Amino acid sequence: MKIFSSVNDVKDISALVGEALKLKKDPFAFQHLGKNKTLCLVFLNPSLRTRISTQKAALNLGMNVIVLNIDKEGWALELQDGAIMNGTTVEHIREAAGVMGEYSDIIGVRSFPGLKNRDEDYSENIFNKFVEFCKVPVVSLESATRHPLQSLADLVTIEELKIVSRPKVVLTWAPHIKPLPQAVPNSFAEWMCKADVDFIIAHPAGYELCADFTNGATITHNQDEAIRDADFIYVKNWSAYEPYGVVTSGNEHWMLTNEKLKQAPNAKVMHCLPVRRNLELSDEVLDGPQSVVIHEAGNRVWAAQAVLKQMLEAL
Ligand code: CP
Repeated sequence: MKIFSSVNDVKDISALVGEALKLKKDPFAFQHLGKNKTLCLVFLNPSLRTRISTQKAALNLGMNVIVLNIDKEGWALELQDGAIMNGTTVEHIREAAGVMGEYSDIIGVRSFPGLKNRDEDYSENIFNKFVEFCKVPVVSLESATRHPLQSLADLVTIEELKIVSRPKVVLTWAPHIKPLPQAVPNSFAEWMCKADVDFIIAHPAGYELCADFTNGATITHNQDEAIRDADFIYVKNWSAYEPYGVVTSGNEHWMLTNEKLKQAPNAKVMHCLPVRRNLELSDEVLDGPQSVVIHEAGNRVWAAQAVLKQMLEAL
């Protein structure tokens, strides 16, 4: 594997999930693969889970790891081709990515969308420029439109915890106070549409995701009906795709509560985290027996390790 930016970069999804679960049982079996290899993790935005789990995954594989919070510690990056750089930006992404490629065997990049210009965000300009100019394999640590390491960890979690062969998986929109990217729900939908699950997306009217990511999913505005007898309920906020980046009020009742969970007594509740308590998800659900959010975050290590292992094997 040379690029990991979406489920479309994966040849065999169930083999990759199986690899992650094998690595979970035997984390240090492939330390030789990463010996004298360097992973550079470049963050243009904050992170807790992605940063630490990917570092740990690389260390488990014997790699050296460099982390650069380029938004705070690097030169101000220019992203536009042809820019006359007489303003605040100091270094063009062409040189920055090219130089980082000289120091690294694999690069990871996190860059969120601006949520102002949909075409620009969905063009994945920043991620694609890293791929073009760094000349080494690149793994997405969450881009403008997708979060594939999160989605792989989510699928690993579902595979590990399911008690029926084809579980009912529901992605349900949750309230938030500010516009959030569509990357996590886009990516989760894209992976679930290719997995052996019955997949339903529930959201208020106006929060339709881009259809490119939801082909094959059942989509409803009725949250109660969607979550009835679910095996997994994935809770996530996102801002509107059309009109882009907008948040409308009046949907506060979409927060998942224990009362709603009575309809899905066997459901495991997932969230990618970070989560705003008692806004997106109630304390009672997060602290209750149906929540698997910490377990899910733990699986980020094995998802990242499975991807890095495939990248190291292809070097
Ligand atoms: N879920 C996730 O990607 O968390 P971080 O933003 O903390 O990395």
